[in-house]
Amino acid sequence: MKKIIVLIVVMLAVAGCGRRNIDAPTPTSSVFQPTPTQAVSAADAAQAQLVALAADGEVLFNTFYAEVGFACETCHFVDQEGMKIGPGLLNVSDRSEGLIDGVSAEDYVHASIVNPNDYIVEDYTANLMPQTYGDIFTEEELDALVAYLMTLQ
Ligand code: HEC
Repeated sequence: MKKIIVLIVVMLAVAGCGRRNIDAPTPTSSVFQPTPTQAVSAADAAQAQLVALAADGEVLFNTFYAEVGFACETCHFVDQEGMKIGPGLLNVSDRSEGLIDGVSAEDYVHASIVNPNDYIVEDYTANLMPQTYGDIFTEEELDALVAYLMTLQ
């Protein structure tokens, strides 16, 4: 009799274990991690907007402006740092970040376009770069030019 009871207890225990195993939640943490889809698509949208802005800037950079008699491209290489008439603008974002205390690369480049004499690049002369771009371009066009120059690296 004792043996039968022990056997029943053992069987119940085994059956119980089995059931627990079947019901036990499977480790799903990696599968069910919430994906930050909204954050990702917002970042993608911002990135796409910046790419589009830079593409507009590239067009402006290569356009001839009768008001000044030049395109930016007339005086600046974009694929090297060497001198054309002005300095080559490859890596301009890297070299202008922190060049002036408290001035970001974007602000430095923006100022270099609208007020070229604010910062005269070493080994170059003032008043060579046209001084009237601030009148020629809208703020949005200036943003596009800056966005484009930030991509040159
Ligand atoms: C007639 C030639 C000429 C034209 C056209 C010209 N630049 Fe320049 N640019 C220069 C010279 C020379 C310098 C260096 C002297 C100085 O800092 O002003 C310079 C400097 C710069 C700098 C600073 C570069 C650095 O290494 O710190 C930027 C940015 C710049 N130009 C952007 C532009 C853009 C954008 C345009 C068109 C909207 C343009 N330039 C048109 C001659 C020109």
